[in-house]
Amino acid sequence: MADEFEPKILGILCNWCTYAGADLAGTSRIQYPSNVRVVRVMCTGRIDPAFVFEAFSLGADAVLISGCHIGDCHYIAGNYKARRRIALTRKVLESYGIDPRRLKMTFVSASEGALWAEVVKDMVNTVKKLGPSTVQKKTNLAAAGHAAAGVADDDLAEIAKASAGKKLEAAPVQKK
Ligand code: FES
Repeated sequence: MADEFEPKILGILCNWCTYAGADLAGTSRIQYPSNVRVVRVMCTGRIDPAFVFEAFSLGADAVLISGCHIGDCHYIAGNYKARRRIALTRKVLESYGIDPRRLKMTFVSASEGALWAEVVKDMVNTVKKLGPSTVQKKTNLAAAGHAAAGVADDDLAEIAKASAGKKLEAAPVQKK
């Protein structure tokens, strides 16, 4: 019998809320899937769309971004900005033929360990249904990531508009 597909999910979590919530889930011994590899950032507002493209180009099956609830960001508006950026990034992914359900943003506070476990279970189930990502094989999203690095939200919207319906060419494999 073939092994069940176990998705590789990159989790990018804000230090003050979801990272602490995930920590609480662990210390409370709440059982949930171990498919999420976590990177901690100080705020979801720090997350550049290039991080998402890079993750997919390196073989992630999905990216889960999570931070403080709206209105609770420790840097006031970081999660508002992240929410806008992620919505636009999902459009860009879709324009490259990548199912936008592979990128999700959630809001989990430091006291919501049980909610974090549910978020992870839900994401893992979704990605299992979608199957493994083929991004690494068919696209050069790293190039898109570099192109998007450092651009403002308005520019990202332009990229989303301009790239609608276009596919990226497969990149030649670099020999070392
Ligand atoms: Fe948590 Fe900004 S500090 S999202």
